[in-house]
Amino acid sequence: MNVSVLFVCLGNICRSPTAEAVLRRKAEEAGLKERISIDSAGTSDWEAGNSPDSRSVAVASKRGYSFEGQTARQLTSDDISGFDYVIAMDRQNLQDIRKLQPESQPRLLLDFAPHVTEDEVPDPWYHGRFEEVLDMIEAGVDGLLAEIRERSGSV
Ligand code: 4NP
Repeated sequence: MNVSVLFVCLGNICRSPTAEAVLRRKAEEAGLKERISIDSAGTSDWEAGNSPDSRSVAVASKRGYSFEGQTARQLTSDDISGFDYVIAMDRQNLQDIRKLQPESQPRLLLDFAPHVTEDEVPDPWYHGRFEEVLDMIEAGVDGLLAEIRERSGSV
């Protein structure tokens, strides 16, 4: 079974590209590279066409994640219906996704990491905390990957 995952944040240069990079590597390590398709997008068009934020890249590179091939783009309503999992970083993202596609069922990344006390991944563009943001994203992606494997049985 193949599964598709779309990560969504506001600008698509910090949090969702990081989640994309983390799931890409974890899926590869699990031997599931060919079975999980992964993408990310922003609810705004503010950073469309830009590369991932250099601070996100610096912190994630130290842990071996690659952002190769990633360029920011804005979310469209077609996107939302085309993916099995639409994963938001914060509640504002969740609200914006539902506004664009009322029938969608987006979920918060940190719903997959119940042991993390926060339920939203804070926006590092405004708050910094890039290292902490990466910790949260890794925890959420671990939980997401576990659910994908459990649900699909064969994966
Ligand atoms: P992201 O962070 O949503 O995690 O990509 C942001 C990046 C850029 C802006 C806001 C948030 N911005 O205002 O340009």
